[in-house]
Formats: sequence, structure tokens, C-alpha cells
Amino acid sequence: MQVALTGATGFLGLRLLRRLLDTHRSLTVLAHTGSGNALHRITQFFEVTGAPAAFTAELPGRLRVVETDLALPRLGLSERTFQELADGIGAIWHSAGSINLEGNLPELRRTNVEGTRHVLELAAASRLRPRVHHVSTAFVAGARREGVAYEDELEDVCGFENAYERSKYEAELLVHAWSREHGRPALILRPSILVTDLPPHPALPSHPLLVIERVLREALRAAGPERDGGVSPSAPGSHPGPGPHGRVLRGHTPAARPRVRMVGHPHGRLNLLQVEHAAEVMVRLAGRTPSGGVDTYHVVHDRDVPVPTVVALLERLVPLSIELVADKPGTLSALEALLDFYPGMTAYLAHRRRFDDTRVRSRLGISAASAPVGLDYLWSGLAPHTLPLPGPPDPPAAASPTARCA
Ligand SMILES: NC(=O)c1ccc[n+]([C@@H]2O[C@H](COP(=O)([O-])OP(=O)(O)OC[C@H]3O[C@@H](n4cnc5c(N)ncnc54)[C@H](OP(=O)(O)O)[C@@H]3O)[C@@H](O)[C@H]2O)c1
Repeated sequence: MQVALTGATGFLGLRLLRRLLDTHRSLTVLAHTGSGNALHRITQFFEVTGAPAAFTAELPGRLRVVETDLALPRLGLSERTFQELADGIGAIWHSAGSINLEGNLPELRRTNVEGTRHVLELAAASRLRPRVHHVSTAFVAGARREGVAYEDELEDVCGFENAYERSKYEAELLVHAWSREHGRPALILRPSILVTDLPPHPALPSHPLLVIERVLREALRAAGPERDGGVSPSAPGSHPGPGPHGRVLRGHTPAARPRVRMVGHPHGRLNLLQVEHAAEVMVRLAGRTPSGGVDTYHVVHDRDVPVPTVVALLERLVPLSIELVADKPGTLSALEALLDFYPGMTAYLAHRRRFDDTRVRSRLGISAASAPVGLDYLWSGLAPHTLPLPGPPDPPAAASPTARCA
């Protein structure tokens, strides 16, 4: 059976590709037209991750690359090429998408919603009735910050933290409608935030958490000397605590480390999962007999990472001292005002909800569990390796809980 994969050059797609190549002699890569030589980028990934030379040498013969644009009707292909492509595939993995948490809704809809529509049209056009494996996100659960999100839930009750979440929710709705309309099974895989300990490398897709580092760093630069804005430890809105809890990086004194108050929950938690493990679980789930309708799985870690650990990680990456506060301060420093432009990103510091993955565990058992994700693991995947490794952070400042759409 010929398998086609969208997004094969992405952070997750590359790991899915590696897993699929374990069991498939050849694959069709639906690459992003105009964004660079996909085969070269895929080969570089395998080289950087230590694949044997004999394996990488075989890639051109094992991968058929078709250039596509998700956002265009028929994926930007002629009618004839589209039909030929459709008739040659027995399964489609749809992993391509935009994960831009700062993106606007029309832009994200083009890639994530219309893109999914076009992939589903490809599946519908095929005489082989290919299985559809759609990569979504656990964050379709939206802005409900507390409680438990279940695998069979798909609703817009609390709204969404950002346009990305909404676009992925809308894409899932399309998969359900397609399955009903065509009487075909579909698999929806909802990973949480994917991470790796593979150090950043120019030939590899960017680590998803690096975007937060970039935002903090840019805000720090843009705020300039005014960045502290006179915020003192006793400023209104701040909570009593042990003070800056990041260690000193070479070249930065504690005084040079501006303090920034961010709304967050001291008992907040985020689900972060090793991308390699996520890909393995996804491929195993796709091998299970489908129920006939839409089977949705939360591909998540069984232990969440405490928000203070994420804060400590950010403080290691950027010379800032982050203080979690319950509510947005009445007066913002220049730096805080700049960060206020990214509510769709910083909102996650206030999340406390858990993702239920009963279905995954009932299918795969204990083998679905993965190794712990801790501060050192995360640091390995994000740190520029020229930086000295700072010491462990001090305990985080406490903030009182704030009820959110639960
Ligand atoms: N990363 C996470 O933490 C995470 C968590 C949960 C769910 N997910 C989901 O997992 C999937 C993969 O994410 P990722 O982390 O691999 O993202 P990524 O690293 O940004 O990769 C995105 C992939 O989509 C391709 N693509 C983007 N726009 C396209 C277009 N218009 N036409 C064709 N291809 C296009 C890209 O190709 P080029 O590189 O050539 O542009 C790339 O291969 C997404 O659906 C995302 O929503 C990701």
C-alpha cells in the first residue's frame, strides 16, 4: 500500500516519516511547493540524527516527492495529476500545517482548514479509498483552563486561546463531516506540545518552544533601557516571593535581569511530549483496526510539566526574571506592555487542565507511556550550546489561583 504524507519536512513530520519508513519500502511525500528542496532537507535530518549512510543513500529511490500547496484547490495540482496522485495512494497522513500561535485567523484557516479540506478531497477522489490519518492537536480543547479534556470532546464552549487552536478545531470538524458524508473511517491524532532534546541545528525545523524564547528576547530588545519601567518587587499586582528565581548567565548581573510579571497559575501545568515518542505512538495507533467512524486519540504524556518548570526554562534561555501573578497588573512596564501583545501564547501559563488518554492506553497499554520530560531534557533541545549551563532555578514565586472558563 502506497502511503502519502504531508508536512514531511516539519518537526513532527520528519519523525513520522522515519517511523513510516520502518515498515514501508516507499512513500509519497507531498512537499510544500516553493519552500526548498524537500528531499535534501529530509536527507539532512537523517544525517544530523545519525542514520547510516547506506540508509540516506537509498532515500531518493524510496521517496517520491510531489510538490503541493495545501492552501490551493487540488493542492495546486492539475486535474490530471491530482487524480493520478489520488488513485495511487492507499493511506494519507496529513501532518502539514501552520503552527503559528501569533498568526491571524484568515491566514491559519487557509493552511489548516482549507488545507485539510483539500487533503480530504484527495482522499475522496481516490479509487483506493485511502485511510485518512489527520494530525490535530490536544489544544482543540480551547480556552477551558481547568478540568479534564476527553478524547471524544470537540466543542467550542470557552472559545480558544488563539487563532491556531480555532483553525485546528475547525479542521477536525471537517474530518468528521467528511467521514459522515463518505461513510469512511478517519483517525484524528491529537498530540500535546511536542519537544525534543536534540540540540537546535540550522538544518532542522525549529523547536516549537523556541518561538516563546524569540518573543521574550525581541520584547527585551524593543523595550530597551526603559524595559523595567520602575516595577519594584512590591508593585501592585505582584505576589510576595523569593525574588528573581533565574540564575545569572555569564555577562548578566542580577540587576541587568529585568523582572516581568506574567499572568499564570502557580499550580499550572502543561503537557509536553517527546516528538519521537509521539510519532511512534501515532504510527502504532494507525495500525489498529478502525471503528468505522472517526477515532480520536490524545497523544500526550502521562505526567504534566509544572508551569514553574517552564518558567525556569524560559529564565535560563532569556535574561529575564519572570514572576507569575494572578491577574494582569493595572500598570504595565514597557516590557510587560510588549509581551501583552502575545496573549495567545502567554495564556498557557495559566492552564491547569489534564488531557485524558484512556483510549490510547486501552489500545496500547503501558507501552504508550514515555520517559519523564524535565528541565534538563527541555534545556538540551533549546539551548544554544555556546551558553554556559546555568544552575537550577530558585523556587518560583506564588500566585493565587484565578478561576477561568473551566
Ligand atoms: N509542534 C507541535 O508542538 C505540535 C503540537 C501539536 C500538534 N501539532 C500538529 O502537528 C502537525 C505538524 O506540526 P510540526 O510541528 O511538524 O510543524 P512544522 O515544523 O511547522 O512543519 C509544518 C509542515 O507543514 C508544511 N506546510 C506548511 N504550509 C504548507 C502548505 N501551504 N502546503 C504544503 N505544506 C505546507 C511545511 O513545509 P515547509 O517546511 O516546506 O514549509 C512543514 O513540512 C501540525 O498539524 C500541527 O498542528 C504540532
